[in-house]
Amino acid sequence: SDPEREKRFQARIDAEERIEPNDWMPEQYRRTLIRQISQHAHSEIVGMLPEGNWITRAPSLKRKAALLAKVQDEGGHGAYLYAAAETLGAAREDLEDELLSGKAKYSSIFNYPTLSWADIGIIGWLVDGAAIMNQIPLCRCSYGPYARAMIRVCKEESFHQRQGYEIMLALCRGTPEQKAMAQEALNRWWWPVLMMFGPSDKDSQHTETAMRWKIKRFTNDELRQKFIDATVPQGHFLGLTFPDPALTFNETTQHWDFGEIDWTEFKRVIAGDGPCNRQRMKQMRAKHDNNAWVRAAALAYANKRQQRAEA
Ligand code: ACO
Repeated sequence: SDPEREKRFQARIDAEERIEPNDWMPEQYRRTLIRQISQHAHSEIVGMLPEGNWITRAPSLKRKAALLAKVQDEGGHGAYLYAAAETLGAAREDLEDELLSGKAKYSSIFNYPTLSWADIGIIGWLVDGAAIMNQIPLCRCSYGPYARAMIRVCKEESFHQRQGYEIMLALCRGTPEQKAMAQEALNRWWWPVLMMFGPSDKDSQHTETAMRWKIKRFTNDELRQKFIDATVPQGHFLGLTFPDPALTFNETTQHWDFGEIDWTEFKRVIAGDGPCNRQRMKQMRAKHDNNAWVRAAALAYANKRQQRAEA
């Protein structure tokens, strides 16, 4: 380590300067970013699976077109983010290997099943809603390529969130059975969605350094609270109830108080033992094997072009 350089680096961060790929950076800063960006990329890609499950069963042509576009957007976000990680010197093949071997994490939320059409509404409204809450501050992340990637990603996520809420509105204004389907989906997804923001601040290993380096601008608990405050009135507008008896508006703090998150479940899902972890990994490995010919063709084409350029 080089304390003088690190001091100058921190001064640049404190002055809100953007760090770019060719700038000097502490090794730990690089590693933290590769870890976070690659986990984020993996989440976008694995996140295509639970929603992809409903493309063939969407209830109308309009819904199908929107869902198809949305799932493709998520794939694009993953590609964007892998490219951002590559600017830090990571190789995409290595990142993919880490995912397929089970070494790299991806968001806990994508290990839950999509059992009804209402789940597609819930994913847009809540999962993408939580993603936006977490990612808007990342548009001001100190690392330039990540921050810039987040701008477009957030615009698309915002469209996703609206299409999800609109599905919920249609169900909640529909028949009693449709309304019940919406409520049942909210009951299953609410707590796992709150876990997306990560462990509570006292248990978060990375928050302190990530905040000092302005990779993160808010702590996990701060973002979780902001999300709950924004979302609860939206749920009440739909005429739905949240599966948390402790959820009450606190007049003093002007925030919604909420009950204790089941951190045992969170840890279990992250450790690979959630409802769908094994299925997701199996699907990812099958996809990797099925796509081998595309990678081989792309590589052969790139080699041929290079040979021509050299000739
Ligand atoms: N699911 C899986 N792993 C998680 C989750 C979660 N919901 N929350 C935290 N973790 C992991 C962290 O990655 C870290 O693991 P590691 O040390 O093995 O790398 C560990 O739990 C401890 O957590 P923190 O110290 O709080 O980690 P961090 O500072 O990275 O904060 C957070 C976690 C908030 C998820 C952060 O990484 C982040 O903002 N990432 C970018 C956004 C993102 O990845 N979103 C993905 C879901 S949204 C979507 O794809 C639509």
